[in-house]
Amino acid sequence: MLSVSSRTAVVGLLGYPVVHSFSPYMHNAAFRALGMDWVYLAFNVEPRLLPAAVSGIRALGFRGVNVTIPHKQAILPFLDEIDPLAKLIGAVNTVVVKEGKLVGYNTDASGFWRSLKEEGVDPRGKRALILGAGGAARAVAYALVKHGCNRLYIANRTYDRARELAETLKKAGETSVEPLSLEEAFLASILPEADLIINTTSVGMETVGGELPITADKLEARHIIYDLVYNPPYTKLLKMASSKGCRAISGRSMLLYQGAEAFTLWTGREAPLEVMKQVVEELLPS
Ligand code: ATR
Repeated sequence: MLSVSSRTAVVGLLGYPVVHSFSPYMHNAAFRALGMDWVYLAFNVEPRLLPAAVSGIRALGFRGVNVTIPHKQAILPFLDEIDPLAKLIGAVNTVVVKEGKLVGYNTDASGFWRSLKEEGVDPRGKRALILGAGGAARAVAYALVKHGCNRLYIANRTYDRARELAETLKKAGETSVEPLSLEEAFLASILPEADLIINTTSVGMETVGGELPITADKLEARHIIYDLVYNPPYTKLLKMASSKGCRAISGRSMLLYQGAEAFTLWTGREAPLEVMKQVVEELLPS
């Protein structure tokens, strides 16, 4: 049982929607395992109420928050400081309250990278197609550019966001980056060009639904498909990938690693990775 006292330190999640999130289970299990008087709560924050929610973090003395769809970029102007990596990426998924100051970090990029390494996927010399151009896409794209991806296509429903992200990435490394509309990504020429296809959009999430404009006949067995969506653990995209013999990777381990790093940023303690992993694997069986 989680016991809450008048001294309980509060961290949480700001997103819209947040009901799909498994971060509360993962972090609360970690606090329990270490005997810490901390609690992690999920807050459904409409975009228009984000400034008020950020004021609330300050006013109520929270120790920090995670930030998810659709606030990862929108929160930047409301923070006091932004860590250089988060600034370069242009997205924040973790806020730490340090002596009353709100400091923004990005643990998505390293979480994604760690999960990719665990899967034994080396992006060096490969060509990747990223679906989406929001906060999560920014972190994924940064990690791929930083680790020697040869060519990157960024496809987004709102083309201007893809173009803007492609511009930002020029500062991060040598990779050639091409922005596309989402439909263009699935037209004849792009998929045969890509080795790694990563969905960073919210399409396919249990609470969001929707479908990407992709059909199984466009996939080849050599494609590696990574879906950042982890709930449901086996998305339509991943099912399609498996049916074509492709390697299919779910967002489960990125959830774990970005969370472990956020845990350390808030608490100054090493995250109990095995405990967190067990929770995630129990709730999201593969
Ligand atoms: P996050 O910061 O978590 O990445 P975000 O910045 O809101 O969240 O980004 C969500 C991504 O999912 C965006 O790329 C968004 O596309 P737009 O930029 O066009 O909004 C994409 N997305 C969300 N719903 C979508 C849908 N129904 N079809 C296609 N793309 C969608």
